[in-house]
Amino acid sequence: MDTNALVSEIRHELMGVVDPDLDLTFEELDAIRNIEVNNGLIKIVLELVQPINMVAEQINDTCVKVLQNIAPDYENEIIFSEKPIDLSDREVLKGVKNIVAVASGKGGVGKSAISSNLAAALAMTGARVGILDGDVYGPSQPTMFNLKDKTLQGVEENGKIVAFPHENYGVKVASMGMMMSKDQAAIVRGPMLAGYFTTLFEQVEWGVLDFLIFDLPPGTGDIQLTMTQRIPLTGAVVVTTPQEISLADVRRSISMFDKVDVPVLGIVENMSYFVPPDMPDKKYYVFGKEGGKEIAKEKDIPLLGQVPLNIDMRESNDNGMPVVLSESKETELQRQVLMEVAKNLSKEIRKRNYEQYVSGDIDISI
Ligand SMILES: Nc1ncnc2c1ncn2[C@@H]1O[C@H](COP(=O)(O)OP(=O)(O)OP(=O)(O)O)[C@@H](O)[C@H]1O
Ligand SMILES: [Mg+2]
Repeated sequence: MDTNALVSEIRHELMGVVDPDLDLTFEELDAIRNIEVNNGLIKIVLELVQPINMVAEQINDTCVKVLQNIAPDYENEIIFSEKPIDLSDREVLKGVKNIVAVASGKGGVGKSAISSNLAAALAMTGARVGILDGDVYGPSQPTMFNLKDKTLQGVEENGKIVAFPHENYGVKVASMGMMMSKDQAAIVRGPMLAGYFTTLFEQVEWGVLDFLIFDLPPGTGDIQLTMTQRIPLTGAVVVTTPQEISLADVRRSISMFDKVDVPVLGIVENMSYFVPPDMPDKKYYVFGKEGGKEIAKEKDIPLLGQVPLNIDMRESNDNGMPVVLSESKETELQRQVLMEVAKNLSKEIRKRNYEQYVSGDIDISI
């Protein structure tokens, strides 16, 4: 087969490949940017809706299979690029592509634990990730990322005071707790809090990020409302336990996001069940069963996952390393479920970004 014929056959076959998140073909997505055949190498350049890290491997493997079927003797290289987006009308967080608030109506349901694991899971796939801890009274992320007692130091850059986030496990971390002492936090109220918070997201220099995970304080009061309005959110994730009293708060949380026009990208049911390590065949529904799943159905919002109650996860949080980064056999199920949650979140973000892309909400400057 001559090179031209080979290129057209490759194009023809790749056109039919389906993006697993968007359920559309490469033809429909206009995803094939370039096909090059040279010296026994087939090089493909794809252009996909971001964020692509969580699906890149799967898409790569599918494409390689297609290419090997057509030309088994050739080497393959798949290069990923992103469909352009325009964030130039943003006044803050200009380099951050996707900003996701993690919220709950009720405290203590595991928002911070889910946020830290989502951030770490996304970073594991090579995405650039930051986490912003908005809780003044009980900031958890510095503990969960082993950055306790770190402070944010303002430095002057181009006539502006900026601060750089701390970093661990490939995740940039900044928190309200890094800006004030515990004594200060205890007396800070309403408007002052909003001021601190504005400083936190306006003056922290995040650089370019694929994801900024924003761990909101619990509840649906003024502080949460102000925070969700000031930050250009891509969407929100609502965390709940399966039990009924937690679910009433979920409804409130969803209405809050509706009010400020922020799409709820999904619900995470946390502490869904407990599998005793010494009795792996047993499953206990400690906090009720499937409440998160049901509310997701009721509200027609995707359920991103049901995360078990797990002793290692609690210990990892306290010891400063998200459990998705652990390699022990005991945490296998936990890791798997949390990676799935991250993958599902990425999928919902991509669906959202695709909708905006085709609706022309985003000005495409090529
Ligand atoms: N699936 C889980 N398995 C075991 N422990 C968990 C799980 N999820 C959360 N935890 C633990 O439960 C406690 C509460 O979780 P976390 O601090 O994340 O909740 P939160 O919703 O952020 O609370 P707050 O409302 O105070 O901000 C923490 O000790 C955390 O490590
Ligand atoms: Mg918390």
